[in-house]
Amino acid sequence: MISKTMVESLSEQLNKEVWSGYLYLSMAGYATSIGLKGIASWFVMQLREELMHAQKFYDYIEQQGHRVILKAIDEPPKDFSGAQDLFEKTLAHEKKVTGLIHALVDAAKKENDPETEKLLQWFVKEQVEEEETPARILEKFKAAGGDKAKLSEIDKELAKRSFKFPQ
Ligand code: FEO
Repeated sequence: MISKTMVESLSEQLNKEVWSGYLYLSMAGYATSIGLKGIASWFVMQLREELMHAQKFYDYIEQQGHRVILKAIDEPPKDFSGAQDLFEKTLAHEKKVTGLIHALVDAAKKENDPETEKLLQWFVKEQVEEEETPARILEKFKAAGGDKAKLSEIDKELAKRSFKFPQ
């Protein structure tokens, strides 16, 4: 059985995962507003991924015999300055999330809670991908150097992303 403090910390992280999805949905709306539908679609897929992360915390808290108590979701930012800015902010945000996950791992270790640590190790791996993907996309923007035709190619490529909730 996990501690009450750990349940609260995991609930807090669940809230942050939903907020991450909200941030990416805000980015999707902005991308659509500047005519980048492929990038908008990419961020909608990112929203789904974040909801999957939130669901993982939800399921785990219930499996451990606790009720999930949800908190309010803060308003996400709405002002962005172009497609590259979206991915710079995505990478910066994911680095913050990685720090939060590592802090949770440390807390689980301190509490001698191997089950929670096992769950969190899944997130440690996931965060490597969560940082790597926007970093790779940013390289493409840098290579494009503001060229409109190249930006349109990136937009088309990012439209191909799909995401399905794992069974
Ligand atoms: Fe749930 Fe993008 O980390």
